[in-house]
Amino acid sequence: MSRFRHLISIDDLSKDDIEHILKKTDDFLEAAMGRERPRILEGRILVNLFFEPSTRTRMSFESAMKRLGGEVINLGSVEASSVAKGESLADTVRVVSGYGDCIVIRHYREGSARFASMVSEVPVINAGDGAGQHPTQTLLDLYTIRKEVGLRGLKIALVGDLKYSRTVHSLIKALTHFKAEILLVSPEALRLPEELRENGRFAECSLDYAVENADVLYVTRIQKERFPDEDEYRKVAGSYRITARMVRDSDVLIMHPLPRVDEIAYDVDSLPNAIYFRQAFYGVPVRMAILSEVML
Ligand code: NCD
Repeated sequence: MSRFRHLISIDDLSKDDIEHILKKTDDFLEAAMGRERPRILEGRILVNLFFEPSTRTRMSFESAMKRLGGEVINLGSVEASSVAKGESLADTVRVVSGYGDCIVIRHYREGSARFASMVSEVPVINAGDGAGQHPTQTLLDLYTIRKEVGLRGLKIALVGDLKYSRTVHSLIKALTHFKAEILLVSPEALRLPEELRENGRFAECSLDYAVENADVLYVTRIQKERFPDEDEYRKVAGSYRITARMVRDSDVLIMHPLPRVDEIAYDVDSLPNAIYFRQAFYGVPVRMAILSEVML
């Protein structure tokens, strides 16, 4: 019996649901590395509907589905699909929900995944809706934190674009379940929206303070594509840059949903603090857990 049919917002999950997925992820680690071959989704088809660029999310969903014995079909490029002829999202979703057993959707409009779930015949998973939510990223972020430092008593600093990053917006909601202390580091223009500051322990601080005091720095890319105009973006581009010199003598762990642009220097990659590539790998077992939850 599935605990949820669709996965649209992290808010749709209770703390117990989140812990259930994290525990289930442990069971898929070997399979994610190709060392076990549980063909539990054999005969099922996943439909990938990506209206925005993606590397990790789309490909880790594909890898997860295939490693569980399932198949994947893709919308492909938006220009090559009927969307380019003016087809509505509702029609596209309604039709492709007849072509598979689950839809993964990423769209530039906030609320689009929720809307898709209302017209789809099969479960819908939100892979990012504008500046809204990115719940599967949050589950893999939580999994990474749990594995690397533990979620209890966590002090985490969110760094960069706190206004537009959907990964931050999702993660914050989940962190309130675990009573984390949250430090906020951002340019003035990219502060965390007020409505996301309810029910949490938040404090604004400098990057130096965060490096010294947090267990984890969760660094984000400035979300250029969400800015109403390019000039506004230019004013804040390059505001923060983590370098090896800044973190070498600290125990702070560095996470990033990726892709990075220039906010983490390449010389950080070889330090033990850098865990963002492991974090990206955990996307596979976490998505195996999610896919099996909604399809079995
Ligand atoms: C993120 C996204 O799409 O929100 N990428 C991802 O899924 N790992 C982060 C980003 O694009 O900055």
